Amino acid sequence: MSAVEELFGLTGRVAVVTGASSGIGVGFARALAQAGANLVLAARRVDRLEALAVELAEAGAEVLPMACDVTDAKQVEALKDACLERFGRVDILVNNAGITEVVPAENESDEAFLRVLNVNLNGTFYCAQRFGRAMLEAGQGSIINIASIFGMVGSGSIPQASYVASKGAVVNMTRELAAQWARRGVRVNAIAPGFFLSEMTENMFSDERSMSWLRKKTPAGRPGEVEELYGAAIFLASDASSYVTGQTIAVDGGWTAI
Ligand SMILES: NC(=O)c1ccc[n+]([C@@H]2O[C@H](COP(=O)([O-])OP(=O)(O)OC[C@H]3O[C@@H](n4cnc5c(N)ncnc54)[C@H](OP(=O)(O)O)[C@@H]3O)[C@@H](O)[C@H]2O)c1
Repeated sequence: MSAVEELFGLTGRVAVVTGASSGIGVGFARALAQAGANLVLAARRVDRLEALAVELAEAGAEVLPMACDVTDAKQVEALKDACLERFGRVDILVNNAGITEVVPAENESDEAFLRVLNVNLNGTFYCAQRFGRAMLEAGQGSIINIASIFGMVGSGSIPQASYVASKGAVVNMTRELAAQWARRGVRVNAIAPGFFLSEMTENMFSDERSMSWLRKKTPAGRPGEVEELYGAAIFLASDASSYVTGQTIAVDGGWTAI
């Protein structure tokens, strides 16, 4: 194995991916497995996690699929316990579970606002804290929060105040956790994706007017392919980013560059 392969390799590491039952979470799980990691897959739809587990196991990974609602701190604690029981360690956490509510701010209900914050912000904190404690005890670990371009800039045309608020909070919480844990071996970074096909975005992707707006607004002139997130994820998960913490890497075809 070359020095560069070793730098980016994840052989023997254990990675937890939340929201691994659909969309880009499936992509993160595949990328981490391809780099050599064993996986804990979490979401509420466990049948989908089990199907992905079969696929990844066939490719050589050891995989634990487990139902977990990230808004329930007790379930997150149980997920962490199951991970440590099965693998004895946790090296990587991808905090990917997320939802949105597209509605003009003046019409957004209190319930919807709290629901989005509860998954995207509280859930991300519960997971970072519970798995972070285990990482701090071990003196090493990498947490990757999945933020959004709408954690860095506003949205407006796709009105989603709770989502934008939650992702902005995730970007700044990433900095704070990184600062608190940097001397104890735990790095915390974020990825801010632009537009990728998933259950969250499928209505937009199937609407030609929306897609032509998207192509016009994105410097790269197109949405992203899920595989285009693999590089940032493997970089942040691996020793290749050993001196990188508190950062948010936009993978957005230039959306936040203009
Ligand atoms: N696709 C994009 O263009 C894009 C852009 C920027 C950021 N993102 C972010 O990427 C992440 C994944 O989104 P996606 O686009 O792949 O959408 P998606 O296909 O709708 O996937 C969302 C995932 O989150 C899980 N989830 C939702 N609520 C949960 C809960 N309470 N507990 C545990 N898991 C929960 C869902 O699983 P269950 O329903 O089975 O629980 C599902 O696996 C989100 O954080 C999203 O904000 C996506």
